[in-house]
Amino acid sequence: MGKLPKSVRIVEVGPRDGLQNEARTVPTKKKAEFIRLLAAAGLKDIEVASFVHPEWVPQLADAEDLIKQIEFNPNIRYSALVPNMRGLERAIQSGIRRIAVFTAASDTFNRKNINMGIQESIDVFKPVVARAIKEGTSVRGYVSTCFVCPYEGLVAKENVADVTQALFDLGVDEVSIGDTIGAATPRDVETTVGFLLQQFPADKLAMHFHDTYGMAIANAYQSLQMGITTFDSSAGGLGGCPYAPGASGNVATEDLVYLLENLGIETGVSLKLLRRASHMIAQELARDLPSRVLKVS
Ligand code: HMG
Ligand code: MG
Repeated sequence: MGKLPKSVRIVEVGPRDGLQNEARTVPTKKKAEFIRLLAAAGLKDIEVASFVHPEWVPQLADAEDLIKQIEFNPNIRYSALVPNMRGLERAIQSGIRRIAVFTAASDTFNRKNINMGIQESIDVFKPVVARAIKEGTSVRGYVSTCFVCPYEGLVAKENVADVTQALFDLGVDEVSIGDTIGAATPRDVETTVGFLLQQFPADKLAMHFHDTYGMAIANAYQSLQMGITTFDSSAGGLGGCPYAPGASGNVATEDLVYLLENLGIETGVSLKLLRRASHMIAQELARDLPSRVLKVS
C-alpha cells in the first residue's frame, strides 16, 4: 500500500452532477432539503446548482430559487457551475461565493456540452474568472473527458495537462480531473495522474470519477495512493452528464467514505447522516440509487 493521507476533502456534487441527469426534476424545496441533509452529514464543499442555459439542463433551471432557499452554513462552501459571463452574472446576483468553470480535454465533447471548442472556452472563461475573483468569488476548474471521450476515444495525457495548465493560468484554485463517462481503469489513472503530478501539486488537483464500468472506487484508491486528497462524489451515486452518452453516476459518496474510513482517513462525514440524505433523494426520485454501501442497512 502506498503512503496514504491523514484526511481527504470530499466535494459533494450530487445536487448538481447528480440531479442534472435524472429523468425526474426534483422540486426546488426538496433540493434545498437534500442540501441541508448533506450539510448535516458533515460535507464541507457542496456543488448545489448550475447557471447554464435552462433549456440545456432543465433539471437545474431553478438555480436562483434554490439558492434563495438554502440555509447557508458559514463553514460550508456552496458552489455552482458557470459556463460564461451570463452564468457568472446570475451566480453573483444569487449570492453564491464559489463557482466552477468547465471545459474538456476533447474538442468534440466540449462542443456537444457547451457549444465551444476548448480554446474558445478558455477565451470565454478568461474575463469570467478575472471578474469572479475581483468580486471575491473563488473559482474551481473542471476538465472533462480526461481519459476517454465518447466521440473521439482515448484522450492523450498531454492534452489533459495542457487544458489543466490553461485553467490554472486563468487563476482557478483547483482543477477537477474528470472521467466523464466512467471508462478509466486504475492503469489509466496511474498514467494520466502520474503525468499531471509531474507538473501540478497534488493538493491542487481533484479527481472526479463516474462509475459506468464499476471502476470508480478502484480509481479513487489508485489516486489516493498517488497523493491525491480531493475527490468529487455524489450521494447515493447519483449523476451523469446529459451530453455524454452512456455516462452514469459519480462514485457514491457513501462508498468513498466507507473506503476512506476503513483506511483510517478522516473525511468529517457521518455515514449514518449521509444515508438519510440519500434515502430522502432516492424517495423523491422514486428509484434505487447505485451506491453499494447505501444498500446495506
Ligand atoms: P449557446 O446556445 O452557445 O449560448 O449555449 P449563446 O452564448 O450563443 O447564447 C444563446 C442564448 O442563451 C442567449 O439568449 C443567451 O443570453 C442565453 P438570447 O439572446 O438568444 O435570448 N444564455 C444563457 N442563459 C442563461 N444562463 C446562461 C446563458 N448563456 C447563454 N449561462 C451554453 C452555450 C454554454 C450556455 C450552453 O451550451 C449550456 O448551457 N451548456 C451547459 C451544458 C451542461 O450543463 N452540461 C452538464 C455539466 S458539465 C458535466 O456534467 C461534466 C462535469 O461533471 C465533469 C465531468 O464529469 O467530466 C463538470
Ligand atoms: Mg461529472
